[in-house]
Amino acid sequence: MPDLPGTGGFAAPVRKEPAIAVVSELNLILVGPPGAGKGTQAERLTEDFGLPYYATGNILRDAVANGSELGKQAKEHMDAGGLVPDDVIIGVILEAIASDEAANGFLLDGFPRTVPQADALGEALQQAGRKISAVLLIDVPDEEVVRRLSGRRVSKSGRVYHVDFDPPKHPDRCDIDGSALIQRDDDKPETIRKRLAVYHDQTEPLVDYYESRELLRRFDGTRTPTEVHDHVRATVATLRLEDEL
Ligand code: AP5
Ligand code: MG
Repeated sequence: MPDLPGTGGFAAPVRKEPAIAVVSELNLILVGPPGAGKGTQAERLTEDFGLPYYATGNILRDAVANGSELGKQAKEHMDAGGLVPDDVIIGVILEAIASDEAANGFLLDGFPRTVPQADALGEALQQAGRKISAVLLIDVPDEEVVRRLSGRRVSKSGRVYHVDFDPPKHPDRCDIDGSALIQRDDDKPETIRKRLAVYHDQTEPLVDYYESRELLRRFDGTRTPTEVHDHVRATVATLRLEDEL
């Protein structure tokens, strides 16, 4: 495990026994607008495939909470709904994916988020003789993003809920560890709109970037979490089979 300020909460660093046998390296990236359900699906996919999970948003929020140097560099950008500078985040992820626990694969959420980040990731993997297995795009329209993020609640460990769409069993308490649920600082309406604009401007170009490299798989994120999960899981399992042939 690298010396990370945080590993993305609920799924890492514990390696769970995969529900689906993993026989070769599975390097997955989740892409999509804020509130698309990346974190929601990641929690399920890490269980399915036993992958270490690196969510840059969670790593950065942990760093801010701990007051580390990384957190100090990230805080003002995150609060404003902008992106932290590429050179602040790239090294964190390259270190994570080079760690022993990621030797057989990884699930990235929130990285890459810009073309320079995607270039840096591609170069590092190529130098290590590795490659991306697939980029999983979970797509939802902007108005749905606003609805979802204004009702989102998260636990200290990163488990994600929604007051209407995925409520906890007891109001404002995590089902898993009973901790108090909170609203993220960047889930205010004006910050949500800024994050959406930043997504369309800086991250959406990655859709063409990965489509042209034949790595992109699209999913309709407006379905229920279970329907989205079934679809993604089946696609990733098929990738694995294709890889074996
Ligand atoms: P980050 O934490 O990555 O935020 P984000 O990309 O904006 O994505 P979210 O976590 O808000 O949404 P999600 O897709 O995970 O949705 P979720 O599953 O929670 O990044 C935060 C900040 O960190 C950035 O703004 C930036 O400043 C910085 N940062 C991070 N990475 C960076 C990078 N690489 N470079 C530079 N800066 C970086 O679901 C949302 C809600 O919807 C929940 O309430 C959930 O219960 C509900 N929901 C989920 N799925 C469904 C469904 N199918 N139907 C109904 N409701 C659903
Ligand atoms: Mg998330």
